Amino acid sequence: MKPTTRIDTVSWLSADGSIHFSPSPEALRPGGKLRIIDQRALPAHLEYLRIDTLEEACDAIQTLAVRGAPAIGCAAALALAAVTGKSGTANQEALLKEVMKNARVLMESRPTAVNLAWALNRCTARIVTGNGGGTEQIKESLLREALSILEEDIALCARIGEYGRTLLHDGMGILTHCNAGALAAGGDGTALAPIYAAHAGGMKLKVFSDETRPLLQGARLTAWELKQGGVDVSVICDNMAARLMREGRIQAVIVGADRIAANGDTANKIGTYSVAIAARYHRIPFYVATPYSTFDMSLSSGEQIPIEQRAPGEVTSFAGVKTAPDGVSVCNPAFDVTPHSLIRAFITDRGIIRPPFEKNLVVFQSIQR
Ligand code: MRU
Repeated sequence: MKPTTRIDTVSWLSADGSIHFSPSPEALRPGGKLRIIDQRALPAHLEYLRIDTLEEACDAIQTLAVRGAPAIGCAAALALAAVTGKSGTANQEALLKEVMKNARVLMESRPTAVNLAWALNRCTARIVTGNGGGTEQIKESLLREALSILEEDIALCARIGEYGRTLLHDGMGILTHCNAGALAAGGDGTALAPIYAAHAGGMKLKVFSDETRPLLQGARLTAWELKQGGVDVSVICDNMAARLMREGRIQAVIVGADRIAANGDTANKIGTYSVAIAARYHRIPFYVATPYSTFDMSLSSGEQIPIEQRAPGEVTSFAGVKTAPDGVSVCNPAFDVTPHSLIRAFITDRGIIRPPFEKNLVVFQSIQR
């Protein structure tokens, strides 16, 4: 199933130019490339990038041409398959070493979203060797797994949408932060999936999208894709949310996640924590929508989540225009951690998970997909 919003953020372009989202025999033919929407150009232009080298893939991830936790996982997995597919290494052992090295390089391209390492580890763990298949077998098995991850992500988003819509009702005002929609995933997204599902069922919702400084994912991307989908959306500056809550215009907050520790502490785009505090003060439910791949059960709390620090220039200028004086000191963490105590529930592909999270997340992990 393709995303209902038809935003093909990450796709596989086979040698004959056809577009694929699953491991069909046509998609698995040699000579394909990763294709992504170049999110740096939005909302002004809808442009696509074709990626078939490691350098192009790392650059696209680091410069946020592709971004959002599930999307970078899908893109990195397909990039690894694309790069491996082009490799001229004839020896099986040597190719395996090359794949592991390239996977490590991709994994290091951004530190916070766990989906990146999760997807790459899943691909390298499922490489098939033996039976005389040689290097072609390695290439095909990597591509098959990467396309399965993309196909699965589309289904996970749809399930998050179905579970999440049960929490919504007609006339509701919903605040979201950053972009956790179709541009951030293989499918319809995480935080926006319940909104799309409810909208498709005829529910009338009013979405407020925080602009999300410094890179404006909320204003540029969330507003763009919700408008594409015909959802009623207003962009607000990040410092306006508390006022709207006080005015009674927001009945729920839904955000995505980049990494969730075993106790439920959640890393997401910088500013999410402040929104959660404001929501608690106004007694508004704060939901985190996420697939199972964003949980990192190896971390006991959010203290252990690595937080990406980005370049000062992202804060001191925008689109080439200076917004702060030359040489001023800057602090630019890309993410913050919302303590689990502020989270009403996780909206996941396996249902709604409520507190106590330490216990219920363990049960959640054991539920079969
Ligand atoms: O820096 P970004 O744009 O990659 O940050 C993205 C977010 O913080 C999203 O909210 C998160 O990845 C969830 S996407 C479904």
